[in-house]
Amino acid sequence: MTFNDSNMEQLTREVAEVSSSEALDALEQRELGRSGRLTLELKALKDISDLSARRQRGQELNERKHRLLAAINGRRQELGTQAEAALAQTEALDITAPGAPVQVGHAHPVTLVTRELVAISRDLGFMAIDGPEVESEFYNFTALNIPARHPARDMWSTFWLKNYQDLLLRTHTSPMQARHLQKNKPPLRIVVAGRTYRYEATDRTHEAQFSQLEGLMVDKRVTVAEFKAVIETLLARLFKTDQLAVRLRPSYFPFVEPGFEVDMGCVFCKQKGCEVCKRTGWIEMMGAGLVHPQVFRAVGYDPEDWQGFAFGLGIERVAMLKYNIRDMRVFLSGDVRLTQQF
Ligand code: FA5
Repeated sequence: MTFNDSNMEQLTREVAEVSSSEALDALEQRELGRSGRLTLELKALKDISDLSARRQRGQELNERKHRLLAAINGRRQELGTQAEAALAQTEALDITAPGAPVQVGHAHPVTLVTRELVAISRDLGFMAIDGPEVESEFYNFTALNIPARHPARDMWSTFWLKNYQDLLLRTHTSPMQARHLQKNKPPLRIVVAGRTYRYEATDRTHEAQFSQLEGLMVDKRVTVAEFKAVIETLLARLFKTDQLAVRLRPSYFPFVEPGFEVDMGCVFCKQKGCEVCKRTGWIEMMGAGLVHPQVFRAVGYDPEDWQGFAFGLGIERVAMLKYNIRDMRVFLSGDVRLTQQF
């Protein structure tokens, strides 16, 4: 077959009707490829012996080749534009559509209260430090004037570590009093916020795992009046009030003398009596007292030279008051509906 005008027309039509770039490539290969029809005809030119006939035929074939190439390239562009348009349809993004809400994390209420307590304590000159949750019997009890087999140990039902004779989960943050005094010289003021553990049945106000804020101030001379002033300021700032009453009731902890329970005048009813304070006008907040001479001795201090106060506050109880939470057990429930509110 030779390229004449009529099959050239048919070819251009075929090109125009091709509907995919793969088919177009095949067609180009068929006509213009290494052994394409037009290519072969161009190769056969050398067999034409008559020079002027060969030149004329060469011109014709070249012209057709260029026309065919132009048609193919034109169609290729069209197909490309169509493909892009189709893609724009299927992958269209409506940039005016409202976005899907993003889930963000929330701090746990106990974390929030802890941060707040630590920040206020820092303002009052207390340095925040951490301590180990796995503690030794010595720091948790003995150094705090609670010798082995002393009945006061029953005040703290203890999780002991299996296979370790003297390791336990700290039952309070007080062991850090002894640890810090051993390594640092007074005057000093520290707070310790962290988890504590007790082998206890749980109810609305008790958990087996909870958090405490421990405070300790040691100096040449430290008085109960100073303690009361610090704790009044701390609680007033925490509950954002400038009228706050604090009351000390005598109590017993082996590591303080004298020891107290600290009550806060109810901030919810201004001490008129409400459900939160059980109509008493007072809410129990923490245990506290002046550092016992035996604690100083246990860590190598002469109790004649040093005095101090210490307190231990239950952070979950504070968080319950601040956020009006009725059951402590929601804190460890893992239910994100709790944290989402804060
Ligand atoms: C103590 O743990 C002492 N270490 C506090 C202290 C420190 C006294 C320094 C003197 C000097 P107590 O066992 O009362 O004391 O616990 C202190 C606070 O922890 C309680 O007032 C309460 O708010 C909280 N608490 C105690 N047991 C639990 C529990 N099972 N669940 C949640 N909170 C608790």
